[in-house]
Amino acid sequence: MPNAKMFKALNEQITFEYYSSYMYLSMSAFFADLGLPGCSHWMRLQADEELLHAHKFFDFLLNRGEKVILQGIETPPNTWKDALDAFQATLKHEQLVTSRINALVELAFTSKDYASHTFLQWFISEQVEEESTVTNIISQLKLIKGDGHGLLLIDRDLGLRQAGTTTDTPA
Ligand code: FEO
Repeated sequence: MPNAKMFKALNEQITFEYYSSYMYLSMSAFFADLGLPGCSHWMRLQADEELLHAHKFFDFLLNRGEKVILQGIETPPNTWKDALDAFQATLKHEQLVTSRINALVELAFTSKDYASHTFLQWFISEQVEEESTVTNIISQLKLIKGDGHGLLLIDRDLGLRQAGTTTDTPA
């Protein structure tokens, strides 16, 4: 039988997804200020995507007849050393998200809450994709070793990201 601990954890994940969105929105502003509109665009779409994640948890709880209790959102950082530093912070954050999703899956399993377990499978796949995409961007940023021309090319590519995708280059 689903338990209170499971629903509390799912509620907390709503807030965490909102924090993720807030952090990427902050990065979007940082990149705009830096004169990298493509990176800013990529982060803006990332922020939008995190809101969709939050709303998936929101809708799931409501569909289960559970109470949604929204909590305060922590203030995100507002500056990073450079583009590489910001994307490394993104990867670190996504790895934290992955560990949280894994903990939720474990809790669903031990609670025998099979509906939550099934619901969370989408997030497992999503995290593999998110970590992979950001790892590729970091590799490209490392390859150019701070070269301005290379950075502008990466920025141009990231500016081609379309809503609903996490890919760093167009399909
Ligand atoms: Fe909601 Fe980027 O994971």
